[in-house]
Amino acid sequence: MTSPVNYTLIDNIGVITIDSPPVNALSQAVRQGIMEALDVADSDASEAVVIICDGRTFIAGADISEFGKPLKDPWLPEVVNRIEATDKPVIAAIHGTALGGGFEVALSAHYRCAVAGAKVGLPEVKLGLLPGAGGTQRTPRLAGIEAALQLMTSGVPIAAARAMEVGLIDRIVAGDLREGAMAWAKELVADGVKPRRTSDQDIPAYDAAIFDGYRATLAKRARGQIAPQYIVDCVEGAATLSFAAGLALERSKFAELMEGEQSAALRHFFFAERQAAKVDGLSKDTPTRAVESVGVIGGGTMGGGIAMSFANAGIPVTLIEISDDALARGLSIIERNYAGSVKRGKLSEAKAAACRALISGATDYAALAEVDMVIEAVFEDPQLKQEIFAKLDGVCKQGAVLATNTSYQDVDAIAAATRRPEDVIGMHFFSPAHIMKLLEVVRGENTADDVLATCMQLAKRIRKVPVVSRVCYGFIGNRMLQPYGQQSQLLLLEGATPEQVDGAMESWGMAMGPLRVFDLAGLDIGYKARAALSDEQKGDPATYRVPDRLVEAGRLGQKSGSGFYTYDENRKPTPDPIVHEIIENAAADLGIERRKISDEEIVERLISALVDEGRKIVDEGIAQRSSDIDVVYVYGYGFPAHRGGPMFYADSV
Ligand code: 3HC
Ligand code: NAI
Repeated sequence: MTSPVNYTLIDNIGVITIDSPPVNALSQAVRQGIMEALDVADSDASEAVVIICDGRTFIAGADISEFGKPLKDPWLPEVVNRIEATDKPVIAAIHGTALGGGFEVALSAHYRCAVAGAKVGLPEVKLGLLPGAGGTQRTPRLAGIEAALQLMTSGVPIAAARAMEVGLIDRIVAGDLREGAMAWAKELVADGVKPRRTSDQDIPAYDAAIFDGYRATLAKRARGQIAPQYIVDCVEGAATLSFAAGLALERSKFAELMEGEQSAALRHFFFAERQAAKVDGLSKDTPTRAVESVGVIGGGTMGGGIAMSFANAGIPVTLIEISDDALARGLSIIERNYAGSVKRGKLSEAKAAACRALISGATDYAALAEVDMVIEAVFEDPQLKQEIFAKLDGVCKQGAVLATNTSYQDVDAIAAATRRPEDVIGMHFFSPAHIMKLLEVVRGENTADDVLATCMQLAKRIRKVPVVSRVCYGFIGNRMLQPYGQQSQLLLLEGATPEQVDGAMESWGMAMGPLRVFDLAGLDIGYKARAALSDEQKGDPATYRVPDRLVEAGRLGQKSGSGFYTYDENRKPTPDPIVHEIIENAAADLGIERRKISDEEIVERLISALVDEGRKIVDEGIAQRSSDIDVVYVYGYGFPAHRGGPMFYADSV
């Protein structure tokens, strides 16, 4: 078998080239290849060594698919120590993304250069791990404690320019990276420059209070997660221990995390997310349709955010509203959102202006004649949606993709309103649509393969995580929410309080408990929907008696200042004795005897409700695979990623 690592001596420079598609991950073959190349470089006529990668990126990290299996020699820490110990100057030349173990390879080189578009980072925390090949010890020596903690506890990569600012790389190469790195290597040799080992460097001055500060912040921001806390321990170790002792601390903490449940869950989730983008039975080379312009119908809560998602990816949007007033309102909300992003430092003024300029408005559907795709986001009214699709059939050019953002309605019935059901699909965004990453792509009975492939590809372009769902009431996510919500109501009647139910779920890791979610969405929505149903369709009154009573008492949720809780002007919820009374009375009416309910019971019953429905969804073929459900729940419903998603969690317990 040929090695993915190639070594050549060019003039007086030894060049180690890694070529292991797709992302040059540090598989055993790559690790061994680097060691063998260093053996040659040690004894040949080279005077300096360049480490560079072919393909789309520098090394993107350890090979995650090898995790959880017995590790084969040579281990990565051994490889990076060997690189650093080399007697000739070693230069890492970075393009694409140098991540995790890949960046640790670069940190163990003596000098680092990168192209301007490169990014570097230590994203191990997102896998429930910490940098395990010296990253926790070398990063603070180069960048200082604060920048190191920031990089490792957030896991967010930084651009080359920023990396240079904090001392993590030494130069930015304009033009061809290989040529630039070779020229620099020759320059270093000509100047008689010696290896500069990161492990020999002192930690820049720091404030010792920073560690406890980070611990406290992370206890809130990354509630329940172990890895971020261990990163702080290791960085503190870098500051207070010898390099060797710091490495030993890192090694033991890394091993403990690797064995633990949180990392297993997050590793599952890493692959689940990538798997979700694949459609069974749809060949990789299914053609796609060009989407260079879109129309969005309805500029309300969802339409505005959807328009922003496309504009942010550089795709021009025509927003259609029912009247000039409604259009002006919709556009002004978009304006406000962009201004907010600028204020929070998320977007530069220039970028925000450029995105905003891509969104134009109209009240006449004729403006949609030439767009490549339309996304409908009007009121959740099946009749109205069908009328709109019939209209689109009349105005849109042939081949345009016609999508609906409906939360619950039958995509096939909507498609049937057109003479081109093959062009119709569901694209179900989550609120706020310009922020939430999940996109349920709802494949109708007649949706053409190229339309589906187009939407999956487009999702990535607008930085969403797509999951395919077949048609059913509520698709994957909202369908599962129903039994979950009903179970939360039963728990209230049987003896729990809203604050106990939400508290138990939030302590367990959910971003928000179910009753706070109901208050946020508005209790009137369900109330109105139920009003249209017969008693039989509504099912067990115990599952909706309390929210009905709340709505009848004028408590519609956050929007009216009270629901399951009472809210202050900052939308902070406070438990309310009136709600307790409403619950107790409803229980008495329904003949339900109240008892003490434990937090464990709350979690078990609510998660079981999700999982039972999830199983049905997989069995019925609505979801392609159970890991897709995990992706939906983590990205769309605030399920804790470190528990892997409801289906993974159920399997693991
Ligand atoms: N190991 C194994 N496979 C990997 C991988 C890795 N580190 N990184 C990416 N892949 C695989 C993906 O699973 C995917 O495979 P598929 O095509 O079969 O689904 C393929 O490479 C392409 O990945 P993406 O679809 O994610 O491609 P993008 O171009 O969107 O993104 C990327 C590229 C930014 C490199 C992204 O893949 C990424 O963030 N990868 C993970 C990086 C990471 O977490 N590194 C740290 C690993 S832990 C570590 O290094 C421990 C060390 O400290 C000891
Ligand atoms: P909304 O009420 O905030 O906005 C709907 C907008 O559509 C209004 O501004 C209205 O003027 C406009 N409109 C109505 N009829 C129109 C027509 N014929 N032509 C052009 N515009 C028209 O509603 P929201 O919340 O944005 O929901 C829209 C759709 O998105 C619904 O189908 C809903 O189920 C779905 N959805 C909603 C989510 C949410 O959290 N609000 C989440 C995901 C999907």
